[in-house]
Amino acid sequence: MHPKTDIILYGGGGHCMSVIDVIEATGQYRIAGIVDIKAKVGQKVSGYEIIGSDEDIARLAQTYKTWCVTIGQIKGAAKRMESYRLFKNLGLQLPSIISPLSYVSKNAVVMESTVVMHHVLINAGAQVGVNCIINTKALLEHEVRVGHHCHISTSAVLNGQVTVGDECFIGSRAVVKNGITIHNNVIAGAGAVVLNEVAAGQTVAGNPAKIITV
Ligand SMILES: CC(C)(COP(=O)(O)OP(=O)(O)OC[C@H]1O[C@@H](n2cnc3c(N)ncnc32)[C@H](O)[C@@H]1OP(=O)(O)O)[C@@H](O)C(=O)NCCC(=O)NCCS
Repeated sequence: MHPKTDIILYGGGGHCMSVIDVIEATGQYRIAGIVDIKAKVGQKVSGYEIIGSDEDIARLAQTYKTWCVTIGQIKGAAKRMESYRLFKNLGLQLPSIISPLSYVSKNAVVMESTVVMHHVLINAGAQVGVNCIINTKALLEHEVRVGHHCHISTSAVLNGQVTVGDECFIGSRAVVKNGITIHNNVIAGAGAVVLNEVAAGQTVAGNPAKIITV
């Protein structure tokens, strides 16, 4: 049996709690601690201590070489992206974390720093970029392309050959018709039924999904 790798989690909120479950289920890592805001240092998340804040990152990075971005992402991807870039610049490892309760085809690609939560299904020919959240029960059908820094929420369905650009948020239970392209920086609301191409930067919602002003 391989020894477990020490891992530090960055962001100690609700998403972190869910990721902890996934990390524990992999059996591959020992969670060495969590980094969050200074006021939360000493508190625990699912039994793991918040051991530092941003000012401790450089010091912790001397000892711990494997990190995971556990900040959530609803509207903007900026915070998760900044963290990813910071950790890359520090030469840290950001492995993809794949729940053993998910199914990822051997003919699919999941890039680093992406977490695939419980009961996700990623089918043949699909590709997921770096630093994404593929949340609980999402379905990515054959040949789907998801860019970098995206959050595909709980129970979202991306049908065959859908393309999602970078920094997108696809809401819970959204359904995207096969073959549709969603460009960069798009937000699709919970339950959106996306039947047409979505231009960069738009927010869409409803069935059929239409541009909404938020
Ligand atoms: C799309 C979304 C991001 C917009 O949030 P917001 O900026 O706070 O927008 P508001 O709530 O002010 O809504 C603006 C308008 O769009 C409508 N709207 C918002 N979300 C909608 C949705 N999912 N479906 C249909 N209409 C929606 C609102 O009713 C409102 O309409 P009005 O102007 O006629 O009153 C949000 O509503 C949403 O769907 N978030 C996703 C939640 C989710 O999936 N979480 C998963 C976490 S894993």
